[in-house]
Amino acid sequence: MRRYAPGLPGSIAAAVRPPSTSAGAAIVGGLPVRDTEIGRTPANWRAAAGRDGAAAPTAASLRLDISMLLLAAVAGEPFGWRGQQGGRLVNNIVPAAGHEHEQSGASSSTLLAPHTEDAFHPERAHLLMLGCLRNHDMVGTTVSSVRQVELTAAERRVLAEPVLPILPDVSYGDAHDRATAPALPTLWSEVDIESDTAATGLTTRYDPAYTPLDDADAEFRRAYARLSAELERVCRVAALAPGELLLVDNDVAVHGRVPFTARYDGTDRWLKRVNIRLPERRRRAGENRENGYGQQIVAPFRTVTERDTSDDRGSDEQP
Ligand SMILES: [Fe+2]
Repeated sequence: MRRYAPGLPGSIAAAVRPPSTSAGAAIVGGLPVRDTEIGRTPANWRAAAGRDGAAAPTAASLRLDISMLLLAAVAGEPFGWRGQQGGRLVNNIVPAAGHEHEQSGASSSTLLAPHTEDAFHPERAHLLMLGCLRNHDMVGTTVSSVRQVELTAAERRVLAEPVLPILPDVSYGDAHDRATAPALPTLWSEVDIESDTAATGLTTRYDPAYTPLDDADAEFRRAYARLSAELERVCRVAALAPGELLLVDNDVAVHGRVPFTARYDGTDRWLKRVNIRLPERRRRAGENRENGYGQQIVAPFRTVTERDTSDDRGSDEQP
């Protein structure tokens, strides 16, 4: 990837760079996806990988994996998670029987609540790339930006306090130690939160489905509910078409999915996902003390910097 990604035209690098608008998301079209060539929508991620006696992925599906990885390598450093989908760098998002009501990408009949991808982990993606292979029922993906919400200075102040932990989602299993879970801020900015321009630098870690809100006091719960209501107000719904890529700035925008009825007949909605690290972006200094519940990334394209080796991720907020 490192060898070929730099050879791609500059227009491609421009297309997949992190969205710079307050929406925190962008859709890029043009991936060559032909419904007749990609094969049946796999029954789950294992089947997508050709495991458990499933047919091997089609050449067209593998080509899309490689295309997305190349595009991700142009944008930054693609990575996977040891504990998720077998450490694969390109994940398959398909509805899986028996998981209809989960808060995970395998669900269908329940609303997948807006969330920061892997909000529980300090090494979560900066940029999320979702590629659509099939979406016959025009199932909507939701995106809401914290830079478009309207909150009072008092609400922002409450949400900037580290109050509650965010626990790993079910796709990582449930073997985590709640007792050592660190309290995290929900919404913060390097800019003075009292100033009018605070919204431009707002950054979030938000995953209500995995946040024990009952443990917080009434003031925090009220502010959190206001944030949730605002994220709903500014929500945009995109029914991705085959060949479209949705890029989401994972520090700025939260994403989810509307409920739908899975077909389980090989023609279901099928997305591919790549997590991307942006090496130039820094996060809050406090995050490097989090252990991420033991979840580790698979990062074959990681560039090791001086900051990494000194275990200092810097004190700058990302923009
Ligand atoms: Fe997600």
